Amino acid sequence: METQVIIPDIDPISVPAPIWLLKILLLLTFTLHILAMNVAVGGGLIAAVTEFLGKKNNSQNHFELSRSISKMLPPFTAFTITLGVAPLLFLQVLYGNFFYTSTILIAWPWLSIIVIFILAYYGYYLYSFRWEKLEGKRFVVVLISALLLAVIGLIYTQNIVLMLTPEKWKEIYFNNPHGTSLNLSDPTVIPRYLHFMVAALAVAGLVVIMWGIKKIKINESLGKWGIRYGILWFIVPTLLNIIIGLWFLISLPKNFIMLFMGENIYATVYFMIALLAMFVSLILMFVALNSAKPLAKIIIGKVFLLLTIVMMVLMRHELREAYLQPYLNWDKVQVEPQWGVITIFIILLLAGIVTVIWMLKKSFGQKSNVDPVELS
Ligand code: HEM
Repeated sequence: METQVIIPDIDPISVPAPIWLLKILLLLTFTLHILAMNVAVGGGLIAAVTEFLGKKNNSQNHFELSRSISKMLPPFTAFTITLGVAPLLFLQVLYGNFFYTSTILIAWPWLSIIVIFILAYYGYYLYSFRWEKLEGKRFVVVLISALLLAVIGLIYTQNIVLMLTPEKWKEIYFNNPHGTSLNLSDPTVIPRYLHFMVAALAVAGLVVIMWGIKKIKINESLGKWGIRYGILWFIVPTLLNIIIGLWFLISLPKNFIMLFMGENIYATVYFMIALLAMFVSLILMFVALNSAKPLAKIIIGKVFLLLTIVMMVLMRHELREAYLQPYLNWDKVQVEPQWGVITIFIILLLAGIVTVIWMLKKSFGQKSNVDPVELS
């Protein structure tokens, strides 16, 4: 088949802000979206395993933790969605002609996200509100909900990769013009997706560590157990993610691998910092595991993990620009900044973030209402 790549024209309406600013906002809001997603998906999976272990070993510690996670899952699912809307808008403004086309090609799986999401969200509410009543069914309810959310992530990855590969669009469309295609045959999709999901477990592990730190004040043995358990949830997935990350890297076309090996100075520097920061956070968590006073190591470890995530987001951005480079011409894009609207957006975004932090402090910053005596 003759290779013919047709890219829809850029939207004739001028872009309302400088391209650099839109890219920064895209990356910033995407990072926030992914952090919330990590707690919603990773937290759900950890809760499922914790329910299972709690039942198997008849362990109150496990149940105390899963009860606390159950309260976090509905709000963090809501944060994932609301923090997803902002990058969706910036993605459409910047890369709309690529993103809309790939979305149409996988239209039905894409639209199914709404149904999958409602079922998963309902499950999380059920798990949270009926925690006591569900008893033996808790494991199944939270596992199914978390897996459903994880399926949404898989649909996202397929679309985000498909928008980067316009040379595949024609073949996909003529093989199946009904919008029921998937993009699983792309060798980068599965490792890229697993890289996100396994990282979600590690980040949710940090939330468990924070939970342990909070509990230590009212129940020392429970708190210490929580910290150790959370550290293990951080360390094991992170070690696994080194292998998956490598798999993702070598699954990329060779010219893109070279970007991170010196060909693109930004991509290479981000990659080096990410690797270094990841190893530092891993070492700190390993040391914290056997430390009598682990707090400082954990806090510094968290800062390095955040740095790793930010670097990975930047690497992902460089990769996207490289994929689309043959088709993108930013000079052609008409820019007419609407500074008033942008200022309002930034003020509201900051106010939103402050409100969410305040809400989280109010909801999860209080002392546990469970009597420590119950936790033998
Ligand atoms: C709760 C279920 C969701 C999960 C598990 C999830 C997960 C993910 C993952 C893993 C990615 C990265 C894909 C990749 O680069 O390979 C992603 C990207 C993205 N998500 Fe979500 N997502 C969810 C819901 C949403 C919703 C409801 C929205 C919008 C309202 C949204 C907006 C976005 C956007 C715009 C991107 C791409 C940003 C970019 O490429 O720069 N997500 N999501």
